[in-house]
Amino acid sequence: MPWQARYAIGIRALDLDHQLLCQTLDTLLEALRSGGSARVVEDTIEVLRAYATEHFRREEEVMRAVRYPELAAHVAEHDAFRRKALELDLARRQSTLAASEVVRYLIEWLPSHIGGADAQIVPYVRSHLAKNPGAFAPRPVERSNTLPRPEPAPDDPSHPRDAPPKH
Ligand SMILES: [Fe+2]
Ligand SMILES: [Fe+2]
Repeated sequence: MPWQARYAIGIRALDLDHQLLCQTLDTLLEALRSGGSARVVEDTIEVLRAYATEHFRREEEVMRAVRYPELAAHVAEHDAFRRKALELDLARRQSTLAASEVVRYLIEWLPSHIGGADAQIVPYVRSHLAKNPGAFAPRPVERSNTLPRPEPAPDDPSHPRDAPPKH
């Protein structure tokens, strides 16, 4: 599942997270397909879970900051991913096939969540920023982890690249 521009929701920090999650799922599926060592698979699952935890924390923080009304339903979707990621760990111990099935499920889940639940946050973020310019300085979306990132670009909500995607 290569990253596609149409997955962008226009909030840079979250888009970078989504991109990274896509890449990690791809790496994982590839490791399973090519019969990668158990250690590589295990480590990639660990990385996936760390990224997902960090991303959900960041995104839920943004939703709280903008008083997103559907927070509980959205968090429930994140919980479903978290459960599936735990299942992935068990599946890996069972067989490569079982693990691949869970990874394929997550690969389908991610863009559908990004295009659905995540996209619904965007207008609330826009309107919050319009009323509170600088609301995110210090930014709740600031990266706090030390995991490697795909791009070290700063988060700047006013930057032109942060304009909502045009359809
Ligand atoms: Fe989300
Ligand atoms: Fe997300």
